[in-house]
Amino acid sequence: MINPVKGTHDIVYEDSAAFANIELRAKFIATQYNYREMIIPIIEHRELYTRSVGESSDIVRKEMYEFLDKGGRELALRPEFTAGVMRAIASNKLYVNRELPLKYFYCGPCFRYERPQAGRYRQFYQFGIEAIGEPSSYLDSEAIIIGHRILESLGKPKLKVKINTLGDEESRKRYKEALINYFKDHIDEMCDDCKARLLSNPLRILDCKVEHDKEIVRNAPKIDDYLSDDAKIYFKSLLYTIKANGINYVIDDNLVRGLDYYSGVVWEYVAEIKKGEESLALGGGGHYNNLLKEVGGPDYEGVGFSLGIERLMDLLRSQISCKIEGPGPDFYASALNEDALDMMFSIVQKLRDNGIMVHLPYKVKSISSALKCASKMRARFALLLGDDELNKGSLIAKNMQTGEQRPISMRYLKRDVFKLMNDYFNEKKE
Ligand code: HAM
Repeated sequence: MINPVKGTHDIVYEDSAAFANIELRAKFIATQYNYREMIIPIIEHRELYTRSVGESSDIVRKEMYEFLDKGGRELALRPEFTAGVMRAIASNKLYVNRELPLKYFYCGPCFRYERPQAGRYRQFYQFGIEAIGEPSSYLDSEAIIIGHRILESLGKPKLKVKINTLGDEESRKRYKEALINYFKDHIDEMCDDCKARLLSNPLRILDCKVEHDKEIVRNAPKIDDYLSDDAKIYFKSLLYTIKANGINYVIDDNLVRGLDYYSGVVWEYVAEIKKGEESLALGGGGHYNNLLKEVGGPDYEGVGFSLGIERLMDLLRSQISCKIEGPGPDFYASALNEDALDMMFSIVQKLRDNGIMVHLPYKVKSISSALKCASKMRARFALLLGDDELNKGSLIAKNMQTGEQRPISMRYLKRDVFKLMNDYFNEKKE
């Protein structure tokens, strides 16, 4: 037996239907906002991530899958999409003769060498968007709204948007100085990660998860006191816009996010699982100023977010109100004896040719076994064919919810089946 690689997992059966459902909804909603799909490689030059995600980030320091290829190139499996999307915009000069902002969505696997645990994998899937080249708080607001709409479309989980601003460059510079001043008196008693970050990225200390360090962080200076007037106005108008469009946010002044490229607004989506208990972040994003320039493109700002698809699937599993199981087949079609099997095989092909989803067990089953299997598979109807039906030139369709039975003529198969499905959906609507 060869086991899956640690931290990877197969997405099978109902989970794969839930996955497809999430992907479909996300792509549909992003398309409504006029985002277009971008498909980029999984392998990139390692340098792309050291330059963008940042040398001081956990992702680059500890979590990247990196290797030399046979030609001696230093490559990495993508730990996230944003840097790759910027690289693709620069490589393909997508900014030439195109109206700004450029708006792209993407979906695919990412790789991080993290300690595997619930909601944390080494290979996981992200869906996300990036918008480049229009420095407007409306574009930031819209990105926050799109992620929210996607999550809401999964069945109204209790969502919260945690939001913060890292201000403009001037504000951030003054704030970093204040943080270094404050933390240098405490750093000896803090964890090794905080020590490493004191000079390279003091903002990330605010994000430390060590209990003792959190106590020290609690009394640290707050960004709000260091924001320039422009940065304050920008953030205020963004908050006003998202609130007016139904976003329930809380300001979290310790939210800095784990990637070094952010400037301006940052946010994360979380859901309330039980009273007082929050999910891991379902997704997160923010505004970035220098990323495109850093990878060889023009000096355009951008904004985006990514959602973790496995985390959304976990949420759906845990919340009855959000259950998205993939649909079962329209029909579970079972022959009740050997003579009927051949005929059933042909009937099933005709149904499928007409767009009907049918499961056939490829062998004879008793009525009770056929009904048990149809129910387990969540089929809408069981379709049965035995001696009696063969003699009459019909089949029996049994509604798996109500138990109601109806004959289906073999001669008028399409007419009867379409009528059956029509009645089924009309009754459901009422
Ligand atoms: P991130 O916060 O690193 O941001 O990842 C986004 C989401 O991916 C997380 O909120 C989480 O749902 C999911 N995720 C991250 N790591 C794992 C893991 N090990 N296992 C399962 N799910 C995981 C980014 O990646 C940024 N590129 C987001 C962004 C886009 N910012 C601007 N544009």
